[in-house]
Amino acid sequence: MTRAAAVLIVLVSILGSARAEPAAPPVAIADLVRQMTPVTVTTEDPVYKRSKSYVGYPLAAVLRAAWPDVDRWAEEGAELVLTAVDGYAPSMDLARALNHNGIVAFREADRPENDPWEPFAKGRSMLTPDPYYLVWTGIAADDPHFRWPYKLATVSVTSFDARYGGAAPPARANPQVQRGFRVFVQNCMPCHSVNLIGGNTGPELNVPKNITEYWSTRHIAAFIAAPESYRLRSKMPSFATLPEADRTAAVAYLSAMKTRKSCGEGKPC
Ligand code: HEC
Repeated sequence: MTRAAAVLIVLVSILGSARAEPAAPPVAIADLVRQMTPVTVTTEDPVYKRSKSYVGYPLAAVLRAAWPDVDRWAEEGAELVLTAVDGYAPSMDLARALNHNGIVAFREADRPENDPWEPFAKGRSMLTPDPYYLVWTGIAADDPHFRWPYKLATVSVTSFDARYGGAAPPARANPQVQRGFRVFVQNCMPCHSVNLIGGNTGPELNVPKNITEYWSTRHIAAFIAAPESYRLRSKMPSFATLPEADRTAAVAYLSAMKTRKSCGEGKPC
């Protein structure tokens, strides 16, 4: 080995071990499950709103196949990002994902392999969960700590700060704005981005123009509660069941973000 190569190896291993934040780029689920043995589960399904049985792979096994360090990252408080083919990208606590019974389903147990999913209505279109659907057993469908994404394609790991820090409000922001940030991450970020951070099923809401710079906060609050009262066929679900204080806080957060715009990795717009 040349001296330069030896120095390079030492450098790479120092840099590698110094990386404090867990950060694993997206891995395709299809590539992880090839050798795995499927299991069958029955659950109260929040999408079909009845009991359903699925064949799939245990989520914990899928994540451990993806990354040997995943249990350590979980102890460090990492965040699991679940990205669907349409850009919907919710996240949840990685430790919680590893320690509960999640199944990455690839078909319904009582359907043939060449017709694996029952279609369901979403707005005016009919969808199926293809290619993968993350379901849970023993978890209430409305438990906000768990995600049930369908059309799931990839998994990735990041820290909460690495994923959402660039969309955090200014540190001196008032408690309502801080609360609104948490509400927004939980309920809105799977579809919307702020400073280009979040999903892209819905529009970006801060750059280059903050939504409160062209919609009044009153209309935003009313839209969130009842999108169809503004736009027939709106693709946004109603958040009427979210407590009003949370909706107001989410709007306060959006409004506060007009003083903190960035177009990716802290770059100004
Ligand atoms: C399932 C995806 C989804 C979720 C979750 C979601 N939205 Fe939306 N939202 C959309 C889509 C798609 C649009 C685009 C317009 C439409 O279809 O009405 C939209 C539009 C909007 C608009 C209007 C902006 C515009 O110019 O169209 C606002 C404001 C908004 N959403 C805020 C929120 C807030 C706040 C939350 C969380 C409480 C939220 N959304 C959650 C999908 C979503």
